[in-house]
Amino acid sequence: MQRLRRLRKNGMLRGLVAETRADVRKLVYPVFVRFGENVKEEVPSMPGVWRYSVDRLREVADAVMQAGIAGVMLFGIPEKKDEAGSGAYDENGVVPRAIRFLKEYCRGKRKGFLVIADICLCEYTSHGHCGALIGGEVENDASLPLHTEAALAAARAGADMVAPSSMMDGVVEAIRGALDGAGFFSLPIMAYSAKFASAFYGPFRDAADSAPKSGDRKSYQMDVRNAREALREILADEREGADIVMVKPALAFLDVVKSARENTLLPLAVYNVSGEYAMVKAAAKEGWLDEKRTVTEIMTAFFRAGADIVITYHALDFARWQRSEDE
Ligand code: PBG
Repeated sequence: MQRLRRLRKNGMLRGLVAETRADVRKLVYPVFVRFGENVKEEVPSMPGVWRYSVDRLREVADAVMQAGIAGVMLFGIPEKKDEAGSGAYDENGVVPRAIRFLKEYCRGKRKGFLVIADICLCEYTSHGHCGALIGGEVENDASLPLHTEAALAAARAGADMVAPSSMMDGVVEAIRGALDGAGFFSLPIMAYSAKFASAFYGPFRDAADSAPKSGDRKSYQMDVRNAREALREILADEREGADIVMVKPALAFLDVVKSARENTLLPLAVYNVSGEYAMVKAAAKEGWLDEKRTVTEIMTAFFRAGADIVITYHALDFARWQRSEDE
């Protein structure tokens, strides 16, 4: 008789036949960097996640290196926002300063980590949209030069990778062209290719104060009902020169992750977003879920669905739990 339980008898056997293992070296930790000095403030809707001023990033750098995770993804909170989102491409803006600080801090250390710059305008515009707002519309082509300038500012500051997240058409091609034109031929682009207009970004928008002041993002982010269109986005970014493609959010879109895996040969990232993190944290706090087991199951699911890279606020916790398991 076929007995599938034979191989489930004990931990050794289960480990031997396990098909997937969540790997901390494949995780990226998102970090919020804010203006000011000597500030570390917790994001109310994301317990365990803080906004740091640049001078306090040492703490994050040490934790990330100790955890052995692949890198950080930076999001900026500027002191002032304006119509054109100029903080996004200011060479002395929060993110370029954070990049310089982190790269300098890890220089010469045995274990370094990657510094990835999210490239978008929503944290920097007074209207909270991800591009140039002209006559009440987010104008695609007028937004592209703002993105290329932001990518160049990150590149000049020493970023290891740039990650355009605004869902403007042609943004990957525009950034690739600008980077190559400035000699940054080897700087990879991780494209937020299939980014859905999702309710799960709520806590992030609190953290970055980046909610649109009017309307929503549905004219540029994807309709959550569309999986075939997600593949069109991914294939378009691949043609435009993306080095890594991404599906975001993660949990409610694992069907998209799986079909992306089957339809592109590029490395595939998933972004386990703020709302997904907040749900787990809230339930764990109430004692309704075992946080460690829940997070481990979720991380495993991403890799099982075909992700190569997982961007997650759980990264530091997960790495700590893995370490204690290995010991
Ligand atoms: C910026 C951006 C957003 C997120 C990452 N980059 C917010 C948005 O589109 O409103 C969300 C990340 C998260 O929820 O953790 N465009």
